Amino acid sequence: MKIKKAVIPAAGLGTRMLPATKTIPKEMLPVVDKPSIQYIIEEAVASGIEDILIVTNRAKSAMDDYFDYHPELEESLKRAGKVNEIETVRRTADLANIFYVRQKETKGLGHAIWRAKHFVGDEPFAVLLGDDIMVSETPVMRQLIDLAEEYSCSVVGVQRVSREVIGKYCTLGVKPVKERCYDVTELIEKPRPEQVISDFAILGRYVLTPAIFDVLEDLPAGYGGEIQLTDGLNALCQNERMLACDFEGKRYDTGNLRGYMEVTIDMALEHPEIKDWMKDFLRSKIENS
Ligand code: UTP
Repeated sequence: MKIKKAVIPAAGLGTRMLPATKTIPKEMLPVVDKPSIQYIIEEAVASGIEDILIVTNRAKSAMDDYFDYHPELEESLKRAGKVNEIETVRRTADLANIFYVRQKETKGLGHAIWRAKHFVGDEPFAVLLGDDIMVSETPVMRQLIDLAEEYSCSVVGVQRVSREVIGKYCTLGVKPVKERCYDVTELIEKPRPEQVISDFAILGRYVLTPAIFDVLEDLPAGYGGEIQLTDGLNALCQNERMLACDFEGKRYDTGNLRGYMEVTIDMALEHPEIKDWMKDFLRSKIENS
């Protein structure tokens, strides 16, 4: 089983990042000098993905434009002799084969994934949530794909989260298979404290078999009146094997203000052009506060 296609659901309303996301898609908010979705596409490409479908909506056409050529801008950069800048803007359009489909109504993550059915066809595929930036030695999606290819089954990316916050995610029943790898037996979206089965939660990365589409087709609305991917995964893992990969790496949730600020500062501290300045700036701020 080879995984060459990925789906990035990016049709959410981004209400936690208002007012910026009133007109700017949250996936286009810059993290230092790149929009956050570019980090996600770069992770997919570094994991061996060739074709990417972004699930968008009518307010998100800035994404299509970003991953396209911009001849007028390139011409102007050429006239100004800005060779490096031409390469930088060209590269965004050449990262991968990027396709788009619209989710016409914001009916939930499960519904957004279901919109990818025709693009995916009859092969397993990767899912990377548009909100979650990962920093790791081996790309997080590659870690999941390695397991999916070894065991020929679906894999969800998990990490342990504290009991205080697990209610914002989902909880999973798991049985150990080998180091950092578990069989998934059950999933519950946004669990109440008495429903928490383990400390593991899914954090924005999945490899799914196309059987998920049959499940999503008839799935009733779940938590919050939305069609929940977690409910679909719970049904899927009753019918076929599903593994949880306790991935190595740091995950940032850019969909909320703290996560967004955290990733922005961390990335600035790694950026070759500004990292020294950034360190001095932060140091002086702390000393003077
Ligand atoms: P979130 O709930 O984190 O995103 O969905 P949101 O709805 O944009 O956020 P808030 O709560 O209003 O701030 C997880 C992922 O699922 C996508 C989102 O774009 C995000 O990547 N999603 C969610 C869809 O594509 N469609 C939906 O109907 C819902």
